[in-house]
Amino acid sequence: MTRLAVRHGAINLAQGFPDFPAPAVLKSAAVQAIEADINQYAITWGAKPFRDAIAAKYQRTYGMEFDPESEITVCCGATEGMIASLLAVLDPGDEVVLFEPFYENYGPDTQLCGATPRYVRLRPPDWSFDPNELRAAFSVRTKAIILNSPNNPTGKVFSRDELVCIAGLCQEFDCLAITDEIYEHILYDSAVHIPIMSLPGMRDRSILVNSMSKTYSVTGWRVGWVLAPPDLTGSIRKVHDFLTVGAAAPLQQAGVLALGLPDSYYVQLSQEYRARREHLVTSLQGAGFKCFMPHGAYYVMTDISAFGFEGDASFVRHLITHAGVAAVPGSSFFAHSEVNSQFVRFCFCKKYETLEMTRHQLFKLR
Ligand SMILES: Cc1ncc(COP(=O)(O)O)c(C=O)c1O
Repeated sequence: MTRLAVRHGAINLAQGFPDFPAPAVLKSAAVQAIEADINQYAITWGAKPFRDAIAAKYQRTYGMEFDPESEITVCCGATEGMIASLLAVLDPGDEVVLFEPFYENYGPDTQLCGATPRYVRLRPPDWSFDPNELRAAFSVRTKAIILNSPNNPTGKVFSRDELVCIAGLCQEFDCLAITDEIYEHILYDSAVHIPIMSLPGMRDRSILVNSMSKTYSVTGWRVGWVLAPPDLTGSIRKVHDFLTVGAAAPLQQAGVLALGLPDSYYVQLSQEYRARREHLVTSLQGAGFKCFMPHGAYYVMTDISAFGFEGDASFVRHLITHAGVAAVPGSSFFAHSEVNSQFVRFCFCKKYETLEMTRHQLFKLR
């Protein structure tokens, strides 16, 4: 969709990356690190100052303790963190439970490990799951569940009760919770993010994947991390070493400054995204979309039934060519592309002028 958007000069609300500048303090920290000649390989599992900064941040934010020497692995983004973790823990024949709709990588990541995904539906309007359906997806073959909260593409923030239910199944079926918490600081409507790893009984059976990409608006830096107990970290570090050796050394140094930013940074981040959310949702509703209001992350799932198109892909092509706005067909987030899928996802991590232009372009749909 990004390629199609470029071809048609459309506004790209498909791929989730900001079109506004990264924070100036981070950019100058990266420049300074390069000038100070932090330009060679960092320790493969992460520069010590950055691992220390990660440990300090989790202590400050969640009261969780991690040993930088044995429980933290710095990776090339959450993308590498997830595949490195899965390659470390999955064997061919294992099963992995995934909520659907899901972030596109989890299915292929699971399959690359020779494991089989088992899908459980999140249902609109609140994207809740049926606990019985979830339980039925677990079996003796289940090695892990992958959980992404705040969630892409739905904007769902899993509640404490839901997390307790998932944690109970992980313990009953002796499997791992592998969590993608990349949108942890992008929350609205008093939603609270709870790492499932912080729940009783979950510290030793969770792998927490995160990254600088979304929280610090630096998706191109490719710096992420994985938190896991020492035995799992040992395996993850081995896979990581062979996959990528390590993340960019000067950018890890700039990450030390990022993870030390005061709480006000995160408050402002959420406030700004909330204003962008209101802007885009109002424009979409005005143009005839039904919006499922996200409580976290920076995407809005919409229902396009009112437009009378057969499927989401043909609608998105029409949206690009007739209104000059690109989005993602919702079927990309489902394992079995629905015939007649009527979901389309828009992202709002964009400048106000981009969102304002979108509002005008959407008039062309009328
Ligand atoms: C849920 C989720 N996980 C991971 C990523 C990619 O993260 P990274 O840039 O750290 O590799 C994205 C990017 O859109 C995402 O939405």
